[in-house]
Amino acid sequence: MEQHHPKQMVLVGFIQASNCSNYPGSWRHRDGSDDFLLPGYYQHIARTLEKGKFHLAFVDDRLAMPDRYEDSFAATVEHGIRTVKLDLGPVVTAMALATEHIGIGATYSTTYHTPFHVARLFATLDHFSGGRIAWNVVTSLNDSEAMNFGADAHPPHDVRYDRADEFMETAFGLWDTWGGEALVLDRSEGRFADPSRVRRLDHSGEWFNSRGPLTVPRCPQGRPVIIQAGQSGRGREFAARWGELVFVIVPTLEACRSHRTTIREQAAFQGRDPDSTIVSPAVYVVVDETEDRAREKLQELKALAHPMDSVVLLSEVFNYDFSVHPLDEPLSDDMLDSISGLRGFLDRVTQRSAGGNPSVQDFIRFSARGTLDELPTFAGTPEEVADGLENWFQEGACDGFVLAATHIPGAYEDFVEMVVPELQRRGSFRADYEGATLRENLGLDRPGAWS
Ligand SMILES: Cc1cc2nc3c(=O)[nH]c(=O)nc-3n(C[C@H](O)[C@H](O)[C@H](O)COP(=O)(O)O)c2cc1C
Repeated sequence: MEQHHPKQMVLVGFIQASNCSNYPGSWRHRDGSDDFLLPGYYQHIARTLEKGKFHLAFVDDRLAMPDRYEDSFAATVEHGIRTVKLDLGPVVTAMALATEHIGIGATYSTTYHTPFHVARLFATLDHFSGGRIAWNVVTSLNDSEAMNFGADAHPPHDVRYDRADEFMETAFGLWDTWGGEALVLDRSEGRFADPSRVRRLDHSGEWFNSRGPLTVPRCPQGRPVIIQAGQSGRGREFAARWGELVFVIVPTLEACRSHRTTIREQAAFQGRDPDSTIVSPAVYVVVDETEDRAREKLQELKALAHPMDSVVLLSEVFNYDFSVHPLDEPLSDDMLDSISGLRGFLDRVTQRSAGGNPSVQDFIRFSARGTLDELPTFAGTPEEVADGLENWFQEGACDGFVLAATHIPGAYEDFVEMVVPELQRRGSFRADYEGATLRENLGLDRPGAWS
């Protein structure tokens, strides 16, 4: 299949509603701030990324503390291992109200929320932001999340995606219960809206029933931009069906290119234009004016890791308590089969530990969970970082990047001050926002309205 190469890359900021980024050690950084329970903290990050003309500031989510390890929250709370996650509704509202151009994305789970609630929330946010909202569709990870929402156990992996498919059909249907130009607002005639341009959905399915209509008029983008990051076979199929921004975690340029090819082929197979999928890997960037200073910075950042970070986050992501096994004993086939967390992640560990089943130590080593090695890290001068990013981009591995923070807000500030101008100088990143809505800025079509 012909590989399409966009001229300029898409940039996304990867944010957590907390003072702890993907990298759990980040909160210990000396330049971190303690005001992460206040809106100004998130507004500063959004404004910084907007200054750098980022397409999107996106906030991830998890509906429980990482407490699978030793069936306890103690290590998580003691060491601040992604302990806090504020509710994203107010967080993204604060970010949207402090900015004018940048897209704002929020993660909502199809396993623990309902389509009517999510459709209504995102339609409202899209109105408030003038059409700048994106939804990261996830199916969630583990039993801890299940138990916070009244269930005993997290549903099996593929069942979650079947449910998610129906969730999307329902949400899309609800956004479409309002046709174009339904609002009349004629005060003198007393006519609020045209009933012939509003309809019920009457969805009745295996997982959801929702009648509609939605109580929010059609939103500026028609529907929010859909973000998806499934990595497993079933997850990629889902991403290729629904995802417009497709995020990925990959160790190498080749793996990224192969992932992008699969997503584009599957999207085409499902009747979509492959160019409507924007595939972007999560990366870390450590940048400074000289090579020596960048190297020092990297060492300083690596030193922030704590030995508990990795195993606590592995237990969370695999929905499995790794504390019950000796570190160096290979895990049984049954145990590996029983892992219900991230399948793509599991494949990565088993592929790398060739020669028998992996031990807990292998999981720590090959997943690099909770360390800077978990994601590709571009470290060096602004020129070197730009070279590295451009290489992936020009080799057709990706359409853009999701910048994860090594420390907050410094990683975003450094990138905007040093790397963005270099990319702009080379013409591989745009000089300014071109459209009003996120869809326009990403070159994505706006879904047409019925009338
Ligand atoms: C960049 C990126 C961000 C993600 N953000 C979240 C998130 O906020 N919440 C969540 O539960 N899962 C998140 N995920 C996990 C994915 O939704 C997906 O479950 C995972 O990549 C594994 O794929 P699979 O579900 O097909 O096994 C993210 C994944 C990536 C690559």
